[in-house]
Amino acid sequence: MHKMKNLADKKILFIICGGVAAYKSLELIRLFRKNKASIRTILTSSAKKFVTPLSITSLSQGKVYEDLFNIENELEMDHIALSRWADVIIVAPATANTISKLASGNAEDLASTVILASNKQVYLAPAMNVRMWEHQSTKDNLKTLKNYGYKVIGPTTGDMACGEYGEGKMSEPIEIFNEIQNFVENRKENKKIKALVTAGPTNEYIDPVRFISNKSSGKQGYEIAKSLHKRGFDTTLISGPTNLDIDQEIKLIKVETADEMFKATQKNLPTDIAVFSAAVSDFKIDVKSKDKIKKKERLNIKLERNVDILNYISNHNSMRPKLVIGFAAETKNLESNAMKKLKNKNCDWIVANDVSKENIGFNSDYNEVTIHYNDLKKNKETLSHKKKSEISEEIVDRIVTHMN
Ligand code: PMT
Repeated sequence: MHKMKNLADKKILFIICGGVAAYKSLELIRLFRKNKASIRTILTSSAKKFVTPLSITSLSQGKVYEDLFNIENELEMDHIALSRWADVIIVAPATANTISKLASGNAEDLASTVILASNKQVYLAPAMNVRMWEHQSTKDNLKTLKNYGYKVIGPTTGDMACGEYGEGKMSEPIEIFNEIQNFVENRKENKKIKALVTAGPTNEYIDPVRFISNKSSGKQGYEIAKSLHKRGFDTTLISGPTNLDIDQEIKLIKVETADEMFKATQKNLPTDIAVFSAAVSDFKIDVKSKDKIKKKERLNIKLERNVDILNYISNHNSMRPKLVIGFAAETKNLESNAMKKLKNKNCDWIVANDVSKENIGFNSDYNEVTIHYNDLKKNKETLSHKKKSEISEEIVDRIVTHMN
């Protein structure tokens, strides 16, 4: 039996596309409404052939939007405000056509524009003929969307409206409801949990204009901060120099040197979760020259050790975060070196990546990692080659499970 949940403060934006399964969306809307969620709905032009704006308004008790350029709607709530209004966006049914449009960043109608402009979690509940579902282009499009962080629910297997049998039926409304309700509830709980992420390289100055650094772009750490924020965590990102932007709702602290990163990290304690993905320089210049060093035959620079931020925080007795996750960037003996770091740096988890490979690790959009747990029952898990955004989503899935 369906257990009632109070979703009174939750805002759900439904996008209904043109497919036979559109009638099931009415039941989905009814479930959310019964649980007191606020609902707004966008109908694509072909959706109107299957369901009417009137039936949806009556069920949802909320406004139904149809056109991108509607003066009345734009005055009341423009398409950007509509995408910000929602806590979560559900596309159900998500047709092959809409999936293809979203994968290519199309913004020709209200539905695709709102999704493209959104910074919220988007759920897709695909529904289509089995051959369309199995087509390589649909698979590729969904892979792209998963890389962008979209979540996909279903489809299931069964008899189709077209008379064929196979995979492609939209999941049952109660299954979609349960998954989204879980996400929304977790998000509410996560708002009380603080998460800190370090990202990017550090610059260690030789003189006022020259420094030692490394190839870290910050991409992996920024993606982790984004995924944490999307799940509702109160997220702080401490970043070395990068060219990246981040959502304004994430507290961003820009630093340059390891010493600055260390101070910023200490200042942001206590935190519940700490993820150390920064490539902090192990060394700094012993004595930095006050003036620009003049050209000479040979220059000897003396280096001294930087503080190990991860090590310090994970051994911080009174303020050790509940979950400390380190990274290990290795060029050889990946597993044994990562295991040493897990133990020596007192981490709960260590995420190991092989930075000798060209297509992953430093400055790539992709990564391939193994998470080693200090909990011997869990041991280790490998996340195969995929976009850093997807690696981050999978790491954060595990963080959510752990914290809850
Ligand atoms: O930034 P990208 O281009 O996206 O690349 C991602 C990445 C390769 C930088 C990332 O996936 C990664 O591996 N980050 C850790 C890089 C690193 O410095 O690893 P390490 O094995 O040297 O250090 C082990 C751990 O100690 C790391 O969590 C590191 O943040 C931390 N550390 C190291 C030295 C130091 N002085 N302070 C630290 O906190």
